[in-house]
Amino acid sequence: MAKVKSKYVCQQCGYETAGYLGRCPECGSWGSFVEEITTTVNERSKSLTISDETPPMKINNITTNSETRFSTNISEFDRVLGGGIVQGSVILIAGDPGIGKSTLLLQSGGTLSSSGRKVLYISAEESLSQIKLRAQRLGVHPDNLYIYSQTNLELIKKQIEENKPDLVIIDSVQAIYSNDIQSSAGSVSQIRECCNTLINIAKGSNIAIIVIGHVTKEGNIAGPKVLEHMVDTVIQFEGDKYKSHRILRSIKNRFGNTSEVGIFEMEENGLREITNPSELFIKDIDSVQTPGSVTIVTNEGSRPLLVEIQALVGTTPYPTPRRIANGVDTGRVHQILAVLEKRVGLNLSKQDVYVNVIGGMNITETAADLGIALAITTCARDIIMDKYTAIVGEIGLSGEIRAVGNIDKRIIEAQKLGFKRIIIPHSNPVNKDINGIEIIKVKNLLDAFNKGLTKE
Ligand code: TYD
Ligand code: MG
Repeated sequence: MAKVKSKYVCQQCGYETAGYLGRCPECGSWGSFVEEITTTVNERSKSLTISDETPPMKINNITTNSETRFSTNISEFDRVLGGGIVQGSVILIAGDPGIGKSTLLLQSGGTLSSSGRKVLYISAEESLSQIKLRAQRLGVHPDNLYIYSQTNLELIKKQIEENKPDLVIIDSVQAIYSNDIQSSAGSVSQIRECCNTLINIAKGSNIAIIVIGHVTKEGNIAGPKVLEHMVDTVIQFEGDKYKSHRILRSIKNRFGNTSEVGIFEMEENGLREITNPSELFIKDIDSVQTPGSVTIVTNEGSRPLLVEIQALVGTTPYPTPRRIANGVDTGRVHQILAVLEKRVGLNLSKQDVYVNVIGGMNITETAADLGIALAITTCARDIIMDKYTAIVGEIGLSGEIRAVGNIDKRIIEAQKLGFKRIIIPHSNPVNKDINGIEIIKVKNLLDAFNKGLTKE
């Protein structure tokens, strides 16, 4: 028996009510409710339960088959996945439109099928010839890559069952729809239903499925948060559309850790892996250094990355001076300016301050504090920071330099890229075996200025 039910669903967060509401009580969005009509077919929901017959078991009696992974043959992608794709898992790749999701997955589909895996790439957004053109541009033409242009979930399911591929790629979850749900493709109920069916296929037939999802203007994955809860792995593909580098970041992984990132560069013929990412974000070490420019060592996932930070300080023409930060938090820059004024007497209350991270990187960790402070100070005093010195350290409110994580890896990365000195917090213990780079330990800001700004 089919039952027809009507409900109003918030398109931002998935909150459901029986009647229309102007503002969502869950997430606060205005005008986000849309009426959705659901046909509940009892038989269908029954056939979807895969663990129907399994009674509760003692944990000690459960036997496990160790998870089987296969490599995508793209090492930066494997790294983020925790070592490859786990069979029977569902992976969501989310990112802004135009960031390169389809490109990445067509390339991975290509490398995987060249290594003998059967890959079914289902495009709900592009036609077969559009995909063929992209594949030609990417140089992808293996025998085992099947392309299927389809938006209907039931037909997709039928093809997966008939073709039995090792990997299915769905491009994108917002563009497919199920006949059982009457609302349009991309609505919360459709996304939830389609994702549920895909998860059941993956778990039931041990097929890995990668689902592409677009993110909204606010940076959330379009549709309900519930999508993130349902899948095994959520990977965010980010970067500035106008810059060439892209970062693949795992935000949830049931089969691996979430501290890894993969770095790519978008080129004429597809995405290229960047194995030495620091090279992207610092300038040629032998070029001329200017006041206000310093190099810091930041952490991207568990990987150290050298990044150049620039500051510009100048007399303000405005009643309230401007503080503009690109790539670092403006609030953090305000705090650093306050500490600089109070603890070392650097008063910039009549100066505009601009801070910029080169290469479009976004730095969220506080270990960049000391670098930002030294960039601002060197520009304000018109002195040049030694270009072979890298900086790392968090600044406390009393001007003390506080310890940061992963110090050994950061020092080794700086040394590898030709830096001769590194300024680090005094309280960070350093592995004694590290050599070939002078380590300058500083206790507070004044100490950092005395030891760090004197070298030529
Ligand atoms: P695409 O993979 O279509 O993005 P998404 O699926 O995330 O929406 O890639 C979009 C952009 O990538 C497009 O604007 C052009 C660029 N691009 C390249 O620079 N080089 C290439 O080889 C390809 C295929 C795309
Ligand atoms: Mg696309």
